[in-house]
Amino acid sequence: MKCRHDGSEIPIVHDFGLQPIANGFLDESNPQNEYFFSMQVAVNPANGLFQLVEQPDPKQMFHENYAFFTRTSDFMKNHFKDVSNEIMSYLNSEEANHENFVVEIGSNDGAMLEHLVKNGTPCLGVEPSKNVALESEKYGVKTINEFFGSDLSKQLLSSHGAADIVYAANVFCHIPDINDLAQACSILLKDGGTLMFEDPYLLDVLNKTSYDQIYDEHVYLFSCSSVQRIFKEFDLHLYDCKTLPTHGGSMRYYLSKTKCFDSTSNLINQIDKENSAQLLNLETYDQFSKKCEFSKNAFKDYLSNFKKENKRIVGYGATSKSTTILNYCDIGNDLIDFFTDTTPTKINKFSPGKHVPVLSYDHFEPHPDLAVLFAWNHKQEIMQKEKDYKGLWITHLYEDFI
Ligand code: TYD
Repeated sequence: MKCRHDGSEIPIVHDFGLQPIANGFLDESNPQNEYFFSMQVAVNPANGLFQLVEQPDPKQMFHENYAFFTRTSDFMKNHFKDVSNEIMSYLNSEEANHENFVVEIGSNDGAMLEHLVKNGTPCLGVEPSKNVALESEKYGVKTINEFFGSDLSKQLLSSHGAADIVYAANVFCHIPDINDLAQACSILLKDGGTLMFEDPYLLDVLNKTSYDQIYDEHVYLFSCSSVQRIFKEFDLHLYDCKTLPTHGGSMRYYLSKTKCFDSTSNLINQIDKENSAQLLNLETYDQFSKKCEFSKNAFKDYLSNFKKENKRIVGYGATSKSTTILNYCDIGNDLIDFFTDTTPTKINKFSPGKHVPVLSYDHFEPHPDLAVLFAWNHKQEIMQKEKDYKGLWITHLYEDFI
């Protein structure tokens, strides 16, 4: 495997077997020609970039039927409102200021940009999936329905001018050509402008063995040190970072174009933690691989033993992440009766690869004996909502089995 950033030969550190498109929910329980790819991950010991070996064609994943909508969780809606406040205070404009320009890459259904629109801040979304892009238009968010890259960035620069802020949430880890992406951001930003992006954080995945963050869309798991090393080659200088609870543990990176600010104490501390965790040492990933195997076996055994007693097991949240778990652990309808989910586009469909039915949320009653919390990243919100549920909860996470 060649590193997607520097082209060097790098080792494969774990194999998750054949996997389907994580968000490819199916209309039929027995589809013909479902697409699968071999999901292995590799790490570059020189720059710490954790990456998928093979990724399906992006058009297989981000299309007019893309099943992921940001607005499905109140927590995420609030999160994006907070982001918009942070951006507005950065721009120092509570009022409309037509000097400012903000671009969000992968703006999904406009859950962040709608607040900038309301405030009158000039902004633009870029979103390749047509159905979610159309949804954002309902909130007055101007959206370019295309994949982001340096060609589009040059066009946007000449049509709209340079941006003060380029923001992206859970998007950069989806874009395979990291060099073109960094170049594209550098082209679009003003000198002194800030690139803010957030993605699931490698150190959280390693610490929690939350291997379900790895699926077709997530080509990379970043860390502060890998972002620092890679983006500076494109004149984008990491100066701050913020840990976030979203997606089970994320990191927001702040990079400035051209100007090199001093690193904040947050960033210095985080890089210290990363150094202690030895992110450049392949032994670290060998441990991760062993923990993935342990958690896979323990989780499947737990469900099998439970099912032997003829009990009802329901999956709570047909997350993209659950696709990796079910296909890696080889768990289907034999163990999980069905998922319940609140997303209209997933309801009455079948999960990718293992074809477990997805039913609407009202099927959570009568309550099952065991609920598998596949939406574990929304644990707080869900525990609050399900106070009356008296059955058991479980996740696939390593810590549930040790
Ligand atoms: P998400 O957190 O985006 O995870 P992923 O990126 O892995 O898809 O998805 C959460 C899923 O869980 C989404 O399909 C909606 C569903 N969900 C519920 O069914 N009930 C809930 O109360 C919450 C918060 C989410």
